[in-house]
Amino acid sequence: MVSRVIPVDPFDLVIFGATGDLAQRKILPGLFRRHVAGQMPTDARVIGAARSDLSSAEFRAMARETIAAHVDPALQDAALLEDFLSRLDYVALDVQAGTGWEALRSLVRPDVVQAFYFSVAPVLFGDLAEGLQAQGIAGPGARIVVEKPFGRDLASAQALNATLAAHFEESQIYRIDHYLGKETVQNLMAVRFANILFEPLWNAQYIDHVQITVAETVGVGGRGAYYDRSGALRDMVQNHMMQLLCLIAMEPPWHFDPDAVRDEKLKVIRALQPVGRGDIVRGQYLAGGGGPGYLEDAGNPSSDTESYIALRVHVANWRWKGTPFYLRTGKRLRARTSEIAITFKEPPHSIFDDARGWRENVLVIRLQPNEGINLKVMIKEPGPGGMRLVQVPLDMSFATALGAEGADMPDAYERLIMDVIRGNQTLFMRGDEVEAAWAWTDPIIAGWQARGDRPQPYDAGSSGPEDALMLMHRDGRRWREIRE
Ligand code: BG6
Repeated sequence: MVSRVIPVDPFDLVIFGATGDLAQRKILPGLFRRHVAGQMPTDARVIGAARSDLSSAEFRAMARETIAAHVDPALQDAALLEDFLSRLDYVALDVQAGTGWEALRSLVRPDVVQAFYFSVAPVLFGDLAEGLQAQGIAGPGARIVVEKPFGRDLASAQALNATLAAHFEESQIYRIDHYLGKETVQNLMAVRFANILFEPLWNAQYIDHVQITVAETVGVGGRGAYYDRSGALRDMVQNHMMQLLCLIAMEPPWHFDPDAVRDEKLKVIRALQPVGRGDIVRGQYLAGGGGPGYLEDAGNPSSDTESYIALRVHVANWRWKGTPFYLRTGKRLRARTSEIAITFKEPPHSIFDDARGWRENVLVIRLQPNEGINLKVMIKEPGPGGMRLVQVPLDMSFATALGAEGADMPDAYERLIMDVIRGNQTLFMRGDEVEAAWAWTDPIIAGWQARGDRPQPYDAGSSGPEDALMLMHRDGRRWREIRE
């Protein structure tokens, strides 16, 4: 199976913050991979902009190094690399000092797709948006791309939206949540809306509960200062996990169209019930396994920021009334794994005398690693010993089912950047979605602050704090094991 690569229109992509971590680790290597795939048209150009005083040749040398470090050696064709590097330019630009705009204006072409990637601290978004307009660089069809964190509460997100809206239309603003660019996350929509099999059962009548897990083995060392002002709720739940929940819970959109999809997601967020104090468990990892504890990583011995969170969430609408969604995410856990598990209810009546082997049907969508889908079904245990039931997996690994393509999925950023150039906002968050997500998150954080809530310690390499187990046990349910 060979996927079709449709070249996009000629473009100029300006990366503000081009010497930063995201640009170096994700954006430039991702663009190179798209180039290797044949998706970059011959006159596409990438312009790095940052404060450092570099020449274009120095920027290209930097790109060469980062591509060598972050792209699969099998893709590193020398001729393609030279060709890619020849499309790069660099401008030293200091937004706050107001220098470098003219040089940028001389490079950005008015007659191609213009995309401006704000890979910088959010405090600079306003100045960048204003500068692009005031300097006459951004044409009417220009797009801006902004990264999370998009605000840290409702008020700051509203302020940010207002700042951007003063200079660009909503249809020009691409708010990235890189989870939406992951192939398997998009597959959630394909599985739900391209098969008739699941949709009739996709409601509280047939689904007992949903578990969404994003577990990481890494700690926050290296980005402790940022993380300590954020915590797992702001860093992962308000955005990535909320998006996963939306894709599971939303109604079928009338069409796979940006606003149709985002309208349905917004309805889910608005239907989320406030989360009670007893429905949340927060944790902080302890030192262990050769690594420091959270407090040391964060550089804040009295921090009450959570590196783990588990929540029981209810979507208050006809479809989901009575089906809890359990979400958990954390750092320094026992394995790196992201998955969504949908546990179905018991059949209404068992015709088998010996139902000891009976287990619920579970549909597991593995987002990473080993992307795939696993459906647990009941069958007869083989052999002549009567009718005994046993659960077996119908297991599909995308790597096996789709061959080389399934094994080599494009990185989320590759997909998303190309969507920006194509002008497709389906996989980007709309301003009202982000605000609705903060409106749900804010009271949770306010509750912690009012109570002086402190996270519970948990062992590095464990599955999280004990109380998170209780969150499910008391409902007569269990978390799935965290393992790769
Ligand atoms: C980022 C968070 O948005 O997502 C990080 O800020 C987290 O804390 C990362 O580690 C997880 O992304 P992925 O793609 O590795 O699952």
